[in-house]
Amino acid sequence: MTTEVRSRRPLPEAPSTGPTDATASSEGGAARVQWGSRLGFVLSAVGSAVGFGSIARFPMNAANNGGAAFVLLYAGIMLLVGVPLMVAEFSLGRTAQRNAVGAFSVLTGERRTRWRYAGLLYVGMAAFFLSWYAGVSGWVLRYAFVSPTGAYFSDPDTYFLQASEGGDALFWHFLVLLLTLAIVTGKISKGIERLNLVLMPTLFLIVIGLAVYALTLDGVAEGYRFYLEPEWSAITLGVVIAAVGQAFFSLSLGQGAMMTYASYLPQRQSLAGNALTVAVSTLTFALVAGFMVFPLLAAFGLLGTGQAGLGLIFGPLPRAFAAMGPTVGPVIGTLFFSAAFFAAFTSAVSLIEPAIAYVSEEFGIDRRRAATLMTLIIYTAGIPVALDTRLLDLEGGVLTDVLVILGGLLIALFVGWRTPARIARARMDSGVGLKLSWYIFPLVRWVLPGALGVLLFFTIAGSPCGLSGGEEAEGLVGVLFGVDGLGCDGT
Ligand code: PHE
Repeated sequence: MTTEVRSRRPLPEAPSTGPTDATASSEGGAARVQWGSRLGFVLSAVGSAVGFGSIARFPMNAANNGGAAFVLLYAGIMLLVGVPLMVAEFSLGRTAQRNAVGAFSVLTGERRTRWRYAGLLYVGMAAFFLSWYAGVSGWVLRYAFVSPTGAYFSDPDTYFLQASEGGDALFWHFLVLLLTLAIVTGKISKGIERLNLVLMPTLFLIVIGLAVYALTLDGVAEGYRFYLEPEWSAITLGVVIAAVGQAFFSLSLGQGAMMTYASYLPQRQSLAGNALTVAVSTLTFALVAGFMVFPLLAAFGLLGTGQAGLGLIFGPLPRAFAAMGPTVGPVIGTLFFSAAFFAAFTSAVSLIEPAIAYVSEEFGIDRRRAATLMTLIIYTAGIPVALDTRLLDLEGGVLTDVLVILGGLLIALFVGWRTPARIARARMDSGVGLKLSWYIFPLVRWVLPGALGVLLFFTIAGSPCGLSGGEEAEGLVGVLFGVDGLGCDGT
């Protein structure tokens, strides 16, 4: 098999620096664009990773599930599951230098391999994800725009209802996708890379700035306690499962997004080094986001309002900004919502790229046309969500968890079992720098398929109360068909 023989030899090196898109010869012989710099790639991958998962979902998860105990568990899961899977996913894209579907043909050496369906699943999942993710990003963009005037200060709840449904939501949703289109029609180094080189440092600065500002307010100690006070008994198997799901979602794994970004990576880059950098940056950002959010809420007595995930952004936080008064409120509100939008937008961009790469490379359609076509399809798919937010609970909730875990499982199976060990490890280790396949490969082969299989089962069937600390978590089956998951007394 040509590919496998090739991978045993040193992989072809491609120019890795330079301001313009360097071309590398891919297996198909077509010229292909690449990242302009390592920093550009890393920031773009961090841009994909840092999104609602870090700014809202992680802090709430930590606060609700054991505080510092959850943070430690989560950091462990990132190293044990997140980084290995990221290296595995990177290795597929980087070796193949192809979109998520074509990559499997290149990697297996079989043009019509069934694994192409896995690739199609990635492209479809990322596009489906974006259909609701762009909608929520639209709400955030609107809040960023109106924060200077404090439009939502007098009645945050009514304002949110208006912003999140119907024509208003459709308008801002469309705007986000138009912006996404504008970025992705450019070449990789001029579009996506430049965007992330600017937005990611800005985002970090804003969030750190807000966390420092929060320190100056009165009564914030309660916020830190609410966030991090360790409660070891809170860590049940159900929480572990939730933490793995959170890590996957947050690191953008199993969607073809990281695979596609890595396909623009020169062969000489170390995958393990890059994956560690991305994971540590994402974790750090998520931690700091908690240091920003909870003291802000504590200072205005808004802690513990029972909001999970996204609800945090549109419920208690706008109330806190309103409580800051007409001078400070608009400033802090604008900074916060701009940061949240930057986080979401850079993730949205990574969610459309798998589809564009696929359509343009496999069907020979020019990138601009492919991007326009995908934007229209994704917008249309998002319309029902804008009309009925209950759909969002399903699509952005348990359905997303199921798909993310399924995506990760397929990568683990392909790398751990479909690819001969020596080749899989060579693909992970090629490049100058850190080589971790001795640690990662056994995990991908022996631990991840089983762990992700169990996780997938519970996410579909619902987890029994013994697993989730007395509460039965509803699975996909429960949500879709209204039947109970695996209940506490076997019901
Ligand atoms: N990681 C993003 C977030 O935390 C979501 C995402 C998932 C983006 C998968 C791209 C791919 O919000």
